[in-house]
Amino acid sequence: MSFITEFNQHVHDRNLEGVVKTLKTLPERTRTKLNEYSTLPPFKPTRICIELTNRCNLNCPFCLVGQQDLQESVAHDDLNRDTGGMDMDLCRKIIKEASQFGIQEIMLTFQGEPLMFKRQNFIELIKLARQHGLQPIVFTNGLLLDPAFSRAIVKAGLHAMRFSVDGMTQDVYELNRVGGTFEKVYHNMRDMVQIVKEEGSSLQLWWQFIALRNNEHQIDEARDMAKKIGIPFIVKTFAESIPELVPKNPEYHRKHISKTCHDIYRAMWVYWNGDVVPCCYDLDGKERLGNINENTIEEIWNGKKYKNLRKRVNEALIHPENEPELCKGCLKYVAPEKVGIHPELAKIKSYLQQPFLK
Ligand SMILES: C[S@@+](CC[C@H](N)C(=O)[O-])C[C@H]1O[C@@H](n2cnc3c(N)ncnc32)[C@H](O)[C@@H]1O
Ligand code: SF4
Repeated sequence: MSFITEFNQHVHDRNLEGVVKTLKTLPERTRTKLNEYSTLPPFKPTRICIELTNRCNLNCPFCLVGQQDLQESVAHDDLNRDTGGMDMDLCRKIIKEASQFGIQEIMLTFQGEPLMFKRQNFIELIKLARQHGLQPIVFTNGLLLDPAFSRAIVKAGLHAMRFSVDGMTQDVYELNRVGGTFEKVYHNMRDMVQIVKEEGSSLQLWWQFIALRNNEHQIDEARDMAKKIGIPFIVKTFAESIPELVPKNPEYHRKHISKTCHDIYRAMWVYWNGDVVPCCYDLDGKERLGNINENTIEEIWNGKKYKNLRKRVNEALIHPENEPELCKGCLKYVAPEKVGIHPELAKIKSYLQQPFLK
């Protein structure tokens, strides 16, 4: 939800607490927007995303990145690497080095369900991130919470939590969150909102709803339900991993962006075993850029492999033959002509940017 919409909603509801909370997010949102619209990328990542585990308690059929090992196979069972959890010493090393390198945010989520990580360790990481000046955030299916765990998370100082809930009745929810119980996640969201209030916490909560063919008719009702619970609601567009699940309403279609991609400059993505990859779409290590067990974050970021990858991505329109395989089928950045931009114009812009990119 945009800043203005959220602000207006709170004013309309005469919710002073909400107005203040929204205003406090302004500096961070401004920074993010500036990054988004800049024609040049930042030269240091602002965020590091770590895969505490790539195991999952659910089996969402559309999931690009989930690895599931409890139920029968669906598409994401094809993940071509081992399942495991991150070693705590590695987590501590990442937090320390990320802070030293000037990274601002640590996302405790990549593939899999982060709340499957040992609870005590999860809480320790939130505290440690805070002590090092990092903002810890998490995306979760929200099913593994209970009031005691939720309170511990709030008290530890989590900055933001996004609940992934793609339906507002059991029959629709379970089509997408296969193996999940809507009632359970509903109660967990409601309890979390209550606990945040009780603890006077600034934890930002979101109900994220991916718009799909089978649930788009529930979006308005889900938004009303979220309002009743008191949790901000956002519709996420679907990265079209399964064509049949693309929603009918074009308003909910993902907006593609013309190449070249700058996302590789904004965040680093770390598998549970310490391997660094450039992007959330690198599911099975097509572009491994180093391992944090062996080198520091800074060494990897400034290392040969990363520099080479950035060059190939930056020159994708000029030397398409060198473009990484990973990027050729990107679900976000597409050829300029696909979004109505003349390819020659896009190429000229790309040429002009080259001297400023590193
Ligand atoms: C891979 S999940 C991992 C975290 C957690 N298990 C969850 O479901 O929230 C990370 C995020 O990607 C979202 N996601 C997964 N597949 C997606 C797709 N095809 N399009 C858009 N978002 C997707 C999930 O809803 C979640 O918000
Ligand atoms: S809960 Fe998250 S990681 Fe697990 S299958 Fe669903 S989207 Fe993927």
